[in-house]
Amino acid sequence: MALERTFAMIKPDAVKAGNIGHILTMIEKERFKIIYLQMLKLTEKSVRLFYAEHVEKPFFPSLLEFTLSGKVVAMVLEKENAIEDFRKLMGATDPKKAAKGTIRHTYGTEMPANAIHGSDSRESAKREITIFFGEFAAIPSSEKRNAKEY
Ligand code: PPS
Repeated sequence: MALERTFAMIKPDAVKAGNIGHILTMIEKERFKIIYLQMLKLTEKSVRLFYAEHVEKPFFPSLLEFTLSGKVVAMVLEKENAIEDFRKLMGATDPKKAAKGTIRHTYGTEMPANAIHGSDSRESAKREITIFFGEFAAIPSSEKRNAKEY
């Protein structure tokens, strides 16, 4: 199976609670390679761009306020089947419904504080990686002539 990249973002609740290291450990234990990583505070404009498909939804004001409430850790992760495998590792969107052993069950609390975001499709992964790290970062190492960025 070919290498694939996904976008992940540790959210302000997990950053404030001191869980960056714990979450990175869970990610690395599942054999994801961290290709790029940046800690930053988003602007309202960038949140609107990132969550563009949700801006008209009733929950958007709460999602916006929460995402702006502190720093986030944005990452590009790589492995075979990265997008689907990372969705499994995160668990259900609502931490109360997430399976035991998942990141959201372990470190999320109550919506919108669900600890982590992960891309839901190849298209989303490419779009989200490009917003944070540029188009080049979305291409898996196996498809690059000068292979590894890590
Ligand atoms: S939808 O409507 O089915 O597309 O929504 P969903 O896929 O469940 O969630 C999309 C993102 O919106 C966040 N979300 C919420 N934020 C605040 N309040 C409420 N009630 C709420 N419901 C959903 C959800 O966490 C998703 O963001 P990510 O970053 O993927 O977790």
